[in-house]
Amino acid sequence: MAVDVLLGLQWGDEGKGKIVDVLSAGYDLIARFQGGPNAGHTLEFDGKKFVLNTIPSGIFFENTMNLIGNGVVIDPITLKKEIDKLKDAGHDLLAKKNLMIAKKAHLILPTHQLLDAASEKKMGDGKIGSTLKGIGPTYMDKTGRNGLRVGDTALPDFKERYQKLVDKHVSMLTSLYGEVADFSEREKAFFEAVELINKFQLVDSEHLVNDYLKQGKKVLAEGAQGTMLDIDFGSYPFVTSSNTTTAGACTGLGIAPNKIGEVIGIFKAYCTRVGGGPFPTELDNEMGEELRRIGHEFGATTGRPRRTGWIDLPALKYAIMLNGVTQMVMTKADVLSGFDKIYACTHYNYLGEKIDYMPYDICCVEASPVLKEIDGWNEDLTGITELSQIPAKLQSYIDYLEEELGVPIKYLSVGPDRKQTLVLH
Ligand code: GDP
Ligand code: IMO
Ligand code: MG
Repeated sequence: MAVDVLLGLQWGDEGKGKIVDVLSAGYDLIARFQGGPNAGHTLEFDGKKFVLNTIPSGIFFENTMNLIGNGVVIDPITLKKEIDKLKDAGHDLLAKKNLMIAKKAHLILPTHQLLDAASEKKMGDGKIGSTLKGIGPTYMDKTGRNGLRVGDTALPDFKERYQKLVDKHVSMLTSLYGEVADFSEREKAFFEAVELINKFQLVDSEHLVNDYLKQGKKVLAEGAQGTMLDIDFGSYPFVTSSNTTTAGACTGLGIAPNKIGEVIGIFKAYCTRVGGGPFPTELDNEMGEELRRIGHEFGATTGRPRRTGWIDLPALKYAIMLNGVTQMVMTKADVLSGFDKIYACTHYNYLGEKIDYMPYDICCVEASPVLKEIDGWNEDLTGITELSQIPAKLQSYIDYLEEELGVPIKYLSVGPDRKQTLVLH
């Protein structure tokens, strides 16, 4: 058996949560492998809507287990809030025993969030536009070999280790930024939340996932963020602090590269980005505003308005190459209904040349999009359930994208609900 991976091919918010939920019934285990509560994955079914930050999107299926893998960074306070909210909605994860947490996952401390905020404030206009969840500083402590892991919470000297790291953060905050906001309330909440986390099954994710495979069970790795936010290959430095690509699933769960099966790449029929950094196809105009309004493009985690633009084929081709994508999902096709013309960026104009790749210095040199005009469709897609109901002009758009990208679009999403999903192949 192999691990299938579902991940975003753009700048995040492609609809990963919805599609993982749709696919979950066919898997024994759904595993998050990177990122943390910077993610906001939205699921809708039976008239209910849930936003998950840390918990994998397979949590609503009776026979599907869920794992927060070693590559994830966990804010115990946010995780407790998610668990409590789900319990209030009738999903008691402790009772259901359907959530496991890797002992090797790193912990986000209240002071990591202060460092995130202070760093962003100091950068002023050049800021990354971080979600301020403490992601960057936590991964810095991980690679700096200072971090605290979930498994450490069981050690007798956990409080001393915590204090040692906090003291370091406080001295950094004082010397670099000249201020340390009061975090006593959050510290109290942190330790309460750690107690709750310790009631869950804490595992070595590498053994767990490989044992699942040996037993012939099906595993889906759920990506967070998107390929263009990858720490190595995204639009650095306007990226997140983890590998959001397929390789991240190997290190973030403890599986060998030859254990990767299908790689399901997900993209919107257009494009969005939240936070700073280059976005060649951005529509900083009324059209962009229209896309934001119709597509409800506001961050699931921070509520910030998302920047909107046309689909970017050079960026998608790059993402397909990096991830070894074998099948794709296109979401939010319904949002484009009613646009007379839509556009796809085929190349960039860059330093007087027409290029078809993402240039290294895209963060400082302008790459303006070369756009291909495509006929739009008028039909409302949100109620369609049969392939025969797909408007001809949307079908032409799908055919064009498959031809350009060289990978089949297996699923088409036409609304936020679980049921608004068509299997194309
Ligand atoms: P994720 O981070 O990739 O899981 O995506 P988000 O949940 O942050 O953002 C995707 C948003 O689009 C959510 O509000 C979803 O409910 C919604 N959504 C997902 N697929 C579709 C679709 O096909 N059409 C429409 N209109 N909304 C969708
Ligand atoms: P999901 O999983 C969209 C963006 C932030 C910022 C940059 C760095 O819901 O797709 P960070 O908090 O990681 O330091 O922020 O990355 N970002 C996301 N954008 N969707 C996300 O997650 C994101 N997670 C981080 O806006 O530009
Ligand atoms: Mg999101």
